[in-house]
Amino acid sequence: METDLKIIQDRAENEIKSASSEQELKKILQKYLGKNGDITAVLSSLKDLPESEKKNVGQQANDLKNNILNLILQKEKSLAEKELQNLENKNEIDLTIPAKEPRIGHLHPITQVKNKIIEIFANLGFEIAEGPEVETEWYNFDALHIPKDHPARDMWDTFWLKIPNPKYPASPAGRQIPNNRLLLRTHTSPVQARFMEKNLPPIKIIAPGRIFRYEATDPSHEINFYQLEGLMIDKNITLADLKGVIEKFFQALLGGDTEIRLRPSFFPFTEPSVEIDIKCAICKGKGCSVCSQRGWIEMGGAGMVHPEVLKAVKLNPKQWQGFAFGMGLDRLTMMKYKINDIRLFYQGDIRFLDQF
Ligand code: FA5
Repeated sequence: METDLKIIQDRAENEIKSASSEQELKKILQKYLGKNGDITAVLSSLKDLPESEKKNVGQQANDLKNNILNLILQKEKSLAEKELQNLENKNEIDLTIPAKEPRIGHLHPITQVKNKIIEIFANLGFEIAEGPEVETEWYNFDALHIPKDHPARDMWDTFWLKIPNPKYPASPAGRQIPNNRLLLRTHTSPVQARFMEKNLPPIKIIAPGRIFRYEATDPSHEINFYQLEGLMIDKNITLADLKGVIEKFFQALLGGDTEIRLRPSFFPFTEPSVEIDIKCAICKGKGCSVCSQRGWIEMGGAGMVHPEVLKAVKLNPKQWQGFAFGMGLDRLTMMKYKINDIRLFYQGDIRFLDQF
């Protein structure tokens, strides 16, 4: 029995010595001290030995067990140290460098400005409304008085979804029911129609949200950006109310000296229609790449809600009227923080985002 133990010891010591990974050490532990291990077998056969040998062999087997355990532990430690040393030699780890402080994040600048805008309009008595980013053709175009083949659809070219609209299944012939194809909304104006369908006037809402367009990017254009829709419907609302609200808003967001101007324009869903421009905050009106050298930058479109839009949502235009506007949230953020390229907002560069 003693020679058996000696053989086991030599073998185990050799194996531990040449082991080169933690995995191998685990296998060795199993082989000698596991349930069916060699040393475990010796220990459990002690009961069959004559009384005279029991104590002596028992003692030796236990010593061997402890010895093997110790050797395995030592080897484990030296393997770990060796690995660390290797990493240090490769310059992959420098233990003298102080630990990195965890980065604390903050809201994206567009979200910060959106929150500020919500606060300003809440003070003017406006509620917040929302609509889906995946919209139907009906709400994005038809309900807003932009029929199929109207040239205005070209201005809002977008991404169409190939999947069928689950709410409006394909016709038996396999075609989608007209006007209910799905698309990524090209403006926040569909929220106007959705809200007016479900709520009776008086209405005073803003609807901030993400929108999508198929167009070339440049310092003031993105394919994915944010808009802020506004809608006020009541009796006796005029364009003067629109001007008053817009002016108050810009003064609260960008400061009391912000200059704005309304320019005649065209939108199928407003009549009359205007563009809202502000004096470019980047170049102070001198002309730069953001305002295309004009000195003024277009912040949004607006106008009096077209009677056809009111009719599409079953409101009587003789009884109700109001204004609507849609402004670019990204452009508002650019003006607030004097950022000269909209694309910076979407690049996720921490050096840029850290400033806000
Ligand atoms: C519209 O989207 C209309 N729905 C606005 C409107 C609402 C008019 C209600 C009347 C009544 P327009 O396509 O001009 O209009 O976009 C509105 C604003 O979004 C622009 O003035 C600009 O500030 C911003 N904008 C437009 N295209 C981009 C773009 N590619 N990248 C960033 N901002 C943009």
